[in-house]
Amino acid sequence: MMNRNNRIYLDYAATTPLADEVVEAMLPYFQKEFGNPSSLHRFGQRAEGALEEARMTIAAHLNCSDEEIVFTSGGTESDNLALRGCAFARREQVGANHLLITAVEHHAVSHTAEQLARHFGFEVEILEVDSQGLVSPEIVQNHIRPNTALVSVIYANNEIGSINPISEIGKICRERGVPFHTDAVQATAYLSLDVEALNVDLLSLGAHKFYGPKGIGALYVRKGIPLLPCQTGGGQEWGLRSGTPNIPYIVGMSTALKFVQKNQANWTTSLAHLRDWLIEQVLKRIPQSRLTGHPTQRLPNLASFVFKGVHSQKLIALLDAEGFACSSGSACKTGNPSPSEVLLAMGIEPELALSSLRVTLGRDTKLEHLESFVDCLIEKVVQLRG
Ligand SMILES: Cc1ncc(COP(=O)(O)O)c(C=O)c1O
Repeated sequence: MMNRNNRIYLDYAATTPLADEVVEAMLPYFQKEFGNPSSLHRFGQRAEGALEEARMTIAAHLNCSDEEIVFTSGGTESDNLALRGCAFARREQVGANHLLITAVEHHAVSHTAEQLARHFGFEVEILEVDSQGLVSPEIVQNHIRPNTALVSVIYANNEIGSINPISEIGKICRERGVPFHTDAVQATAYLSLDVEALNVDLLSLGAHKFYGPKGIGALYVRKGIPLLPCQTGGGQEWGLRSGTPNIPYIVGMSTALKFVQKNQANWTTSLAHLRDWLIEQVLKRIPQSRLTGHPTQRLPNLASFVFKGVHSQKLIALLDAEGFACSSGSACKTGNPSPSEVLLAMGIEPELALSSLRVTLGRDTKLEHLESFVDCLIEKVVQLRG
């Protein structure tokens, strides 16, 4: 996105601008259609109508029933509800006390698991990944135990874009009778979310990664999967997430998903083409640069690198001063100088991991943006190495 100041936005994995139709769809629900969906009168009924229509849109996209969609405040809350909710319920029901996650989860998953271990007596096992950041189904198969409460594997990684074999892993979990969660926050704009084909039981979404508003998300919960609510109160969202639902944002999220449906096929080819051009140019023109993550099994909009001898935070500041916005991994890590756990898990040395750059493309990215970006990047890498 080129804004008024000619800035070029290359950080779509951090967040995306709202699509025009999303803003338009949301507006009436801030003022005229302000009802509480729990109210019995017409104001409430109209709000409830909007809520249920949005739920049906999302359910259709996921190939599930509307009773299996729970609205939350975003990807983080969805991950928290999936992990904490399922861990507690499974322990209560069958005494399952073991959680399996991977070394490349977002903190919304890994820190939740860590808390469950530290404060609530769960045993958390962290599955290793290969040098491209992928989790193998065999490793999952070998680590599931009779007392495993839940397996959680990220669908597409937010730092390196590698796409995990979710369907195969889900099949293994299903055969072993263990609920399977995937964080699909980064995957939503580009990959299929068909929960039947993916063999998942819990799946997290967050609207602001796909041209919807911040502060709204959803969790898919397969019928019959036990879940203890994390937020109790008036019993909204099938009793799994109490609180008056945020109707304008929910309408915005379902409209954003329609925007994705309309554009996904085009984005997956056009952005992959731009991404491959960018990767090729960077690797060819910058000595001692390396692509991180899988070369092909990766999100079509994400290119990630390490540059020997370059400090990524300095690089990002220099690029920003020239009008290019990108990041060094997860946006949530801004200001944190410790190397990315994801890169370390892939076997990248700590010093090299501190030289990472993530460039993420989106609906407004053009080849000419990337051409000027690559020229600038080369100049800044030389400057920092000098
Ligand atoms: C993979 C992944 N999971 C979860 C989150 C958190 O989502 P939210 O910002 O909606 O809380 C993010 C956001 O960066 C993410 O990339």
